[in-house]
Amino acid sequence: MALLITIGITADNRKRDAFVTNLMQKMTVEEKIGQLNLPDYGQFDTGISGRQDFMQLVSSGKCGGLFNLRGQDKIRELQQLAVEKTRLGIPLLFGLDIIHGFETTFPIPLAMACSWDMDGIRQAARIAAIEGSAEGLNWTFSPMVDICHDGRWGRVAEGAGEDPFLGSAVARATVEGYQGDMKRADQIAACVKHFALYGAAEAGRDYNTVDMSPVRMYNEYLPPYKAAFDAGALTAMSSFNTINCVPASGNRWLLTDLLRGEWGWKGMVVTDYNAPFEMVSHGMGTNAEVTVQSLKAGVDMDMADAAFLTHLKKELEEKRVAMADIDRACRRILELKYDMGLFADPYKYLKVKNPENMMCTKEHLQAARKMAAETFVLLKNEDNLLPLKKQGTIAVVGPLANTSTNMFGTWAVSVNREKHPAVTVLEGIRQAVGTLAEVLYAKGSNIYYDAKIEQNGNFRGGDLVRDERTAEELLQEAMDVAWKSDVIIAAVGETGEMSGEASSRSQLSTPDAQADLLKALKTLGKPIVVLYFTGRPVVLKWEQENVPAILNVWFGGSEAGHAIADVVFGDVSPSGKLTVSFPQNEGQLPYTYASLNTGRSGTGKWFSKFTSAYLDVSNDMLYPFGYGLSYTTFDYSPVKLDRQEMSEGQQLKASVVVTNTGTRAADEVVQLYIRDMVGSIARPVKELKGFRRIHLEPGESQNVTFDITEDLLKFYNADLKYVVEPGEFQVMIGRNSEEVSKASFEYKARRR
Ligand code: NOJ
Repeated sequence: MALLITIGITADNRKRDAFVTNLMQKMTVEEKIGQLNLPDYGQFDTGISGRQDFMQLVSSGKCGGLFNLRGQDKIRELQQLAVEKTRLGIPLLFGLDIIHGFETTFPIPLAMACSWDMDGIRQAARIAAIEGSAEGLNWTFSPMVDICHDGRWGRVAEGAGEDPFLGSAVARATVEGYQGDMKRADQIAACVKHFALYGAAEAGRDYNTVDMSPVRMYNEYLPPYKAAFDAGALTAMSSFNTINCVPASGNRWLLTDLLRGEWGWKGMVVTDYNAPFEMVSHGMGTNAEVTVQSLKAGVDMDMADAAFLTHLKKELEEKRVAMADIDRACRRILELKYDMGLFADPYKYLKVKNPENMMCTKEHLQAARKMAAETFVLLKNEDNLLPLKKQGTIAVVGPLANTSTNMFGTWAVSVNREKHPAVTVLEGIRQAVGTLAEVLYAKGSNIYYDAKIEQNGNFRGGDLVRDERTAEELLQEAMDVAWKSDVIIAAVGETGEMSGEASSRSQLSTPDAQADLLKALKTLGKPIVVLYFTGRPVVLKWEQENVPAILNVWFGGSEAGHAIADVVFGDVSPSGKLTVSFPQNEGQLPYTYASLNTGRSGTGKWFSKFTSAYLDVSNDMLYPFGYGLSYTTFDYSPVKLDRQEMSEGQQLKASVVVTNTGTRAADEVVQLYIRDMVGSIARPVKELKGFRRIHLEPGESQNVTFDITEDLLKFYNADLKYVVEPGEFQVMIGRNSEEVSKASFEYKARRR
C-alpha cells in the first residue's frame, strides 16, 4: 500500500514537473517575476495597503495572486482576467486571513487550544475552509503556530500557547482541517506562520528581536512548525522578526538550510506583509539589496510591498540574482497552483451557487457553540457558586456584557458583523433564563478611564463606544442594578482588539475602570461571578483573592453568549485547561512551566537568599499550565507503570484510573508529563508528552493509559541530534502541570 502511494505520488510529481517545466519555458522573465508578487487588495485592514489598479495588474501578469478580498463575483472577474485574458492564462491564488472562522466565528486560537479537543479544532478549520472556499478563496494565512512564553505579546491570542507538544498537535489538526487531501473544492491551502520564532519577541513587544540558542529553538519553538509541515501544509509565511540578528525573511539558514535541507519541505514560502522592505529598517541595506537577500534566502513570494516586482529585473540584469533564483521561486508557486488543482480547473473554487447559504448554517453554529463552551476555563469556584440556578434576579454588568463585536476577538476580519452578529453575554443569559429569572443590566464602566488607551485597544471600532457619562454615573447605575439582584455576573477584561497584532500590553491586570467596578461591587457582599474576557494570560491576583467565581471565557466567537450561558447555568460543565500559565504579576514573565532548573532553584518556591527567586513574589504561577476546574470532582489514582525498565526499541505503558467523584457528567483533560532526570544538556523539569480528553458520568471510572515510546523521550542534544539518552525518567500524570502523581523508570540503551 505504502509503495503504491509512493509510486502514485512520484508519477503525479513527474506529471507536475513536466507541466511546470513546459509552462516555464514559455514564460518571459517579467511573467516569472509577476508570479512572485502578492498584492494586498485592501478590502480588509491587515496592513498598510496602497490602492492599485488590480485589473491592470492582473491583466499584465504582474501578480501570482491577491489577498485581502472576498466575494465570488469579484474573485471570478479577476480569475477570468488572469485565465482568459493573459498570454499564458495562469490562474491566481486568492488568500485571506481566515484565522478562527470565516463567517461562523470560532473562539480565538488560544482559546481553542484550551479545549485540548483536536477533533473539534480540526472541524473548526474544516468549517472555515468550507465557508471561505464557497466565496472563491483558496488560501488561508493560518495556522499561526508561534510558541509564546510572554503574555505581554498580544499575538499569543493567535497561537496555541506555551507548549510545543500541544502546539504541534493543534498545528496538525488545523492543517488537516483546512487542507484534507486538497482534492475537493472546499479544501484550501494552509500557510504555517510566522516562520520562525516570532512568539519569542523581546519583552513581548510586537515585531521585535529574537535571540535564541539552537537547542532551545529545536526543542521548544520549532516543533509546531515542523509538525504542520509534516502534516502537509502547502505554504509557509516568513516572519518579521530577526533571529540572532538576521531577519527571518532574509535568513538563508532558516528558509533554505533548515526548511528545505534538514526538513526536506517542498512547499512555497510567502513573506509576511512588507517584510522584505522592512529589512531596510533592520539595517540590511537598500530596497534593492534586501529584495535580493530575501529571494536568495529562499523566499518565493512577496506580500504587499512588491519588492520583487520592482527590483528583480534590474538585479538580474546586473547579475546580483541569478535566473535560477527566480526560476526556483516561480516553480514553487506554479507547483502549488498545480497541487491545488488550479491548472486543472481555475474555477474550481467558484462553483458554489449561493455562497451565502453556506455561511453560519445551523450545523456550523452548533459546532462553534460546542467548541466555545469547551474553551472556557473555570479558574475559581468557591462553594460551588457556579453553576447558577435560573431563578431570582440576576445582574449582568460590565463593559463586555452587551457587545457583540467584541465577542469575535482578534483576527475575525472576514465576518460580516451586521449580517452575522455574535451573541452577546446579555442575550445569551436572557435567552437561557427566559421567564424563569429577571435579568437586569448596566454597563458599569468604560474599559479604561483614559479614552486614548481605550481607543488603542479598539482598532476596528465596533459597537463598544465610549460611554460619555461620568465614571460615577456609570458605577452608580451598576450598583443600583446589583443591589436589586441576588447574584452579579460581571463581564470584564480585554476588548477583542486588546490582544492580537500590535497589541502588546505592559500591564496585564484588569484595566483600571473595570477593576474599580469590581471593587465597588464587592462591597455589596453579594455573590459575584466574573466572566473574564481575554486573548492572553492576564494577572488576576485581586480577582482570585476577592471574588468567589471566575470563568475565563477568552473570546468565544459567533456563539459566545449562548456558550457562556450553557456553562454558567450548568448545561455544560467547564472543561477547558490553560495552555498558557497565568502569572501573579508581569514581572514573572517570560515564563514556561517546562523550565530548566538552575543550580539554585531551591526547594521552596518562596524567597530564600541565594536562590533563583524574587524578593517580592513566589515563583508560583497564579494558575499553572494545564489548570482548569470542573463542576464535578475527579479523583486520580497513583500512576502505574507496567514495568520499571525500558530497553532500546521497547515502550512501556503508564496509566491512571480517573473517577468522577462528583454529581455531574463532565469532560476531563488528563495530562502526561515526562522528566528526563539526567541528560547531556540541562533538561526541563517536566514536559507535556500526552493528553487525553475523556468524558465521565458521575461515579464512572476510566483507566487512562499512555504508551511511553522512545520518541517521547527524545530531544535535540547539543549537536542538534534527536536522541534518547539512557538513565532515569520520571512520568507524571495529573489534572494540570502542578497536580500530578509520579513514577520512575530506567531507560537502557544497548551496548554498542
Ligand atoms: C501581517 C500578519 O503578521 C500576518 O499574520 C498576516 O497573515 C498578514 N499581515 C496578512 O494579513
